[in-house]
Amino acid sequence: MNNFDENKDFVKRPTAGKADNTPHRPIRNIPTQVRRPASNQTAQRLSQNQVHKAPSNRKPTPTVSSVGVRAPAPQSPARKSPSLSGKREMLQESEKNGFSVGTVVKNIIIFIVMLAALLAIGLALILSSVAPKLTEKDSADYTYLLDDSEYSSITVNGVLYMNMSRLAEEYSFVVSGTKDSLRFTADDNEYVEFTIGSRSAKINGDMADISYGPALIRENENVWIPLTFAENYFSGIAFLKDEEEQTISITREELDGSTEDEPLYAKITFKVKGSQALTGIDEDPDIGDIADLGFTNDLSEYEQYMNPRDRDAYLILVNKTNSISADIIPENLVSIVNVRNDGRKEQMVECAEKALEAMFIEMKSAGYTDVSVTSGYRSYKKQESLFNTYLQREKSNDPSLSTEEAKAIVLTYSAYPGTSEHQTGLCCDMHNLPSADVSFANKEAYKWLKENCHKFGFVIRFPEDKVDITGYSFEPWHYRFVGRYHATRMKNLGMCLEEYVAHLKIAENN
Ligand code: DAL
Ligand code: ZN
Repeated sequence: MNNFDENKDFVKRPTAGKADNTPHRPIRNIPTQVRRPASNQTAQRLSQNQVHKAPSNRKPTPTVSSVGVRAPAPQSPARKSPSLSGKREMLQESEKNGFSVGTVVKNIIIFIVMLAALLAIGLALILSSVAPKLTEKDSADYTYLLDDSEYSSITVNGVLYMNMSRLAEEYSFVVSGTKDSLRFTADDNEYVEFTIGSRSAKINGDMADISYGPALIRENENVWIPLTFAENYFSGIAFLKDEEEQTISITREELDGSTEDEPLYAKITFKVKGSQALTGIDEDPDIGDIADLGFTNDLSEYEQYMNPRDRDAYLILVNKTNSISADIIPENLVSIVNVRNDGRKEQMVECAEKALEAMFIEMKSAGYTDVSVTSGYRSYKKQESLFNTYLQREKSNDPSLSTEEAKAIVLTYSAYPGTSEHQTGLCCDMHNLPSADVSFANKEAYKWLKENCHKFGFVIRFPEDKVDITGYSFEPWHYRFVGRYHATRMKNLGMCLEEYVAHLKIAENN
């Protein structure tokens, strides 16, 4: 029996939980399109992993001696200091060999200057190791060819960057915002917004991961972004890389029928990845009209949330291999109405929360009045503290466990910080027990939720029969909002989110 504060959002360790012994470290997608030297790739991976490492794992701050300035070697007893006459002899000898007093003074000055330079380099290295790891290195890896102009690429921590401001100028994007947060608006008011120094961007209001590297300001207030981000999220513009010539030609895509005299350009649009995966799918699943869903209440005012018009906007996949940057905080977080009545405050993204309200209205009408939400949006920090609490719990339950063994157990039921979809604000834990427990699956309320949650746009994220795919033990309490369209398809296909996203990608490629 654990003696945890069960009024908090702790999850009981599943009794039948199978320990997964594979090491779980969040893996970020390293952009494959960007050519960079192997050593740089390693550096990139290391610096990304450091984000998640405990401070003790960080590279120690280099000391001056470790960057090349050696302490003086002890003098050998055989080499005595020369006497004054000896020194004069040496001087005369050196003059004979072409040296003069002036030369010696000059050499001393050169030595002092070099020593000062070495000390400055050492100091700079120490400072750079305590400053944020953003060592910028100009490189002439590639030349960008954008219309008539050319500019050289920059590489930051092994990631190739492109000049977003220059692109905006060329394609007449409207630039707005502040100098720290800039929005570029293209055709049909589609926009992409970058916060300088941040690894997340916004595309038409949705979060877009830019984990390859943050947006930067350089060269007269120009915004630079990782090229891979533009390649992945911008359409209507082609980025053609010539490895041999080391050039990247940026061209506006033309439509069929376009001629030199009368060019017809494709619209420039921005899309988050999840949406891109869906373009090939047109068939409508049997989601039914609201009138056919058997609701006992008038939920018409909630329809826009349960079945959002932007049906692909809520498919973001965050899991053990698709991490989310620590600094991402979802927009439009609102308080959850049906939260456990113990003073806690929980939040969710507005659309998901409204759909949840509708689900509670129906669930209560069906007689299940004691279910409440125990956990919604969790920040990276909150997840970190929760994970560490579980780690301590496992270790105190079984002191013979090594930290790695305890971590492997925790990872079967709690996500490592940066890999929890609670950070997206699109899911919540709800049940009618003192704390989340697999026995909730035996409750009638759960049976109702399992049968009906898709109508409101929710799915059971970690089902009993998908443990091998999700990597987590069964969580009958964890509900994820994806919208009715996709929730219904997932239910009909019997797929969890990992399978469904892969299925959509396959469908798109065929
Ligand atoms: N319990 C789920 C896996 C989480 O921590 O996000
Ligand atoms: Zn959960």
